[in-house]
Amino acid sequence: MNDPNGLVFYNGEYHLFYQHHPNGMTWGPMHWGHAVSPDMVHWEHREIALAPDEHGTIFSGSAVVDWNDTTGLFGGKSGLVAIFTHHDEDPVTGLQRQRQSLAYSSDSGRSWTKYAGNPVLEDPRHLDYRDPKVFWHDRTSRWVMILATGHIVTLYHSPDLIHWTFASEFGQGEGFHEGVWECPDLFELPIDGEAGSTKWVMLVSSGGAEFGARTQYFIGEFDGTTFTNDQPSGEVRWLDYGRDNYAGVSWSDVPKEDGRRIYIGWMSNFHYAHATPTEGWRSAMTIPRVLALKRVSGELTLHQQPVKELASLRSPGWTQSPITIGDGFYRIPELALDSCEIIAEFAPGTAEEIGFKLRVSEKHETIVGYVRQEQELFVDRSRSGDTAFHEKFPGRHTVKLGGTRDRLKLHIWVDKSSIEVFAGDGEAVITDLIFPDTSDTGLEIYTRGGAAELISMEIYRLRSI
Ligand code: FRU
Repeated sequence: MNDPNGLVFYNGEYHLFYQHHPNGMTWGPMHWGHAVSPDMVHWEHREIALAPDEHGTIFSGSAVVDWNDTTGLFGGKSGLVAIFTHHDEDPVTGLQRQRQSLAYSSDSGRSWTKYAGNPVLEDPRHLDYRDPKVFWHDRTSRWVMILATGHIVTLYHSPDLIHWTFASEFGQGEGFHEGVWECPDLFELPIDGEAGSTKWVMLVSSGGAEFGARTQYFIGEFDGTTFTNDQPSGEVRWLDYGRDNYAGVSWSDVPKEDGRRIYIGWMSNFHYAHATPTEGWRSAMTIPRVLALKRVSGELTLHQQPVKELASLRSPGWTQSPITIGDGFYRIPELALDSCEIIAEFAPGTAEEIGFKLRVSEKHETIVGYVRQEQELFVDRSRSGDTAFHEKFPGRHTVKLGGTRDRLKLHIWVDKSSIEVFAGDGEAVITDLIFPDTSDTGLEIYTRGGAAELISMEIYRLRSI
């Protein structure tokens, strides 16, 4: 599988569709796989929702609840509409052709019917014309689509999801541009601690020679037609500082009383997605994360926090009372873990570096560390286990944390083949795949070049879902 698609909440269920090749372990003719969950933690697979047809294979897209039957497909009731890209070859030119289409479901997503008038949006000027993300815009009372169109995004609006009108473009000279833009999203978020004020956030994924695949974000204003970027044009802001969080988008129709903007990403990378050492399955999603806008040293920054529902997986682990950690390392011998959740707070003190060694054995370790002088958080997976399947896999991924800090909070999720690190209140995140041996289960705390205070630490074993 690759990208998450059609994220929508309806009748008490979170739907997660995804780019899926059912007949192979590598990318192939794309379908929409389907999973459903009451809590974004426990998932059940459903039948494939969308399969290739006379218009081509099924690329990425979104889903919405058509509450007021604007499409006229639901006999006055509400229903689900998926808006996706049909991908095939132009019969005349032989070039790739990408067009937007609809499918709908009147039974809460159990079965899907392709719309008879597909495709509903095409523009032969664009070879790359895909990944529609659609939302209802209250102030203008119409649907808005943000679409990846080559190296920019194009916005459209519609009264009924069927007829689309050009609204505007965004992206020329803005942000990171090495690869084509993919899988955009656009949503409004309140600014934490500033009552009544909001900003619009745009997510855009794209490829790069060095890091493979990555997602950037923009913060600005959106009036229903045009997005205006608040940042200087050249500035690039990354959603994640690891290598394995791509094509992520947010859930549609999470109830207003809940109020969360919840995100999930595809946890792999173009460089080696086809080569990861797994058998019988390939690729996973990140854990679901709540997005928020907060200021860090005066700068609005997109924050991510694991959804609270994940706490249902905790089983008793280990709580550490405050201690000073001198130069060296401490193994916690009672714990042998291949998956766990760690919540810790440090005062780096005089240590040059402090952190955790995870999934440790004689041969292997994955390091989550903090270099005090540089205020740099890193994940080093150079010796994490099997790293030889691709030259771009081993490495050290870093992020410089803003503000002045004499304390650092880390929230770390370790799973059988992944690690997700949230710094502070989620101001910086590193998501990385790892492929340790099943016997690499040690856990160590270490410092280098001085002493640090461990203010608090909880470690939970995680139950399987
Ligand atoms: C991103 C992407 C999308 C496309 C899909 C095809 O990973 O390239 O742009 O719709 O994957 O599987």
